[in-house]
Amino acid sequence: MPKSLVIYYSLEGNTALIAKAVAETLQADLLELQPVKNIPNKGFFKFFWGGKQVMMKEQPELQPFSLKPAEYDLIVLGTPVWASSYVPAFRTFLAQYPLKDKQVGLFCCYAGNEGKTIEALKTELSGNIILGNIGFLNPAKTPEASAKTAKEWAKSLLENAGKK
Ligand SMILES: Cc1cc2nc3c(=O)[nH]c(=O)nc-3n(C[C@H](O)[C@H](O)[C@H](O)COP(=O)(O)O)c2cc1C
Repeated sequence: MPKSLVIYYSLEGNTALIAKAVAETLQADLLELQPVKNIPNKGFFKFFWGGKQVMMKEQPELQPFSLKPAEYDLIVLGTPVWASSYVPAFRTFLAQYPLKDKQVGLFCCYAGNEGKTIEALKTELSGNIILGNIGFLNPAKTPEASAKTAKEWAKSLLENAGKK
């Protein structure tokens, strides 16, 4: 079993649900990225502020954590889709912890269209081995089925980890 870490950001619980299922299968540590100042999670303004942060390529300050990403072999990144891309918290994370030569899995959660989220993350992670990626449409609406799919996907990452 590779030493695994699942890193995620979740405003409304969808990405957290998948991150936990993946971490269970991989026996991974979990790291939730938490901005010091989160955007409002209700009403129209979340789209406004979240969208603006993505467009302006902002790097919101993250709450400190003690895990050391460099110590892991397999790293899964999970993000909601915001304005067709990954969330600003990952922009901060990847600037502060550039990953290299890791085996990586990528997943996103979305409500309509995945946009360029996975492609954009792959570009940021070009010095790593991408084992697989997957998108989940509104997973919290069907939590059991979504967790099952997430666990199967996590198993496929482990299979690929040996091959790539
Ligand atoms: C600021 C903001 C922007 C969003 N932009 C998109 C989008 O471009 N495409 C899409 O399909 N869903 C979009 N969504 C919906 C989320 O991706 C979706 O609800 C996701 O499951 C939320 O994950 P979470 O519950 O872990 O926060 C957006 C949500 C927010 C808050």
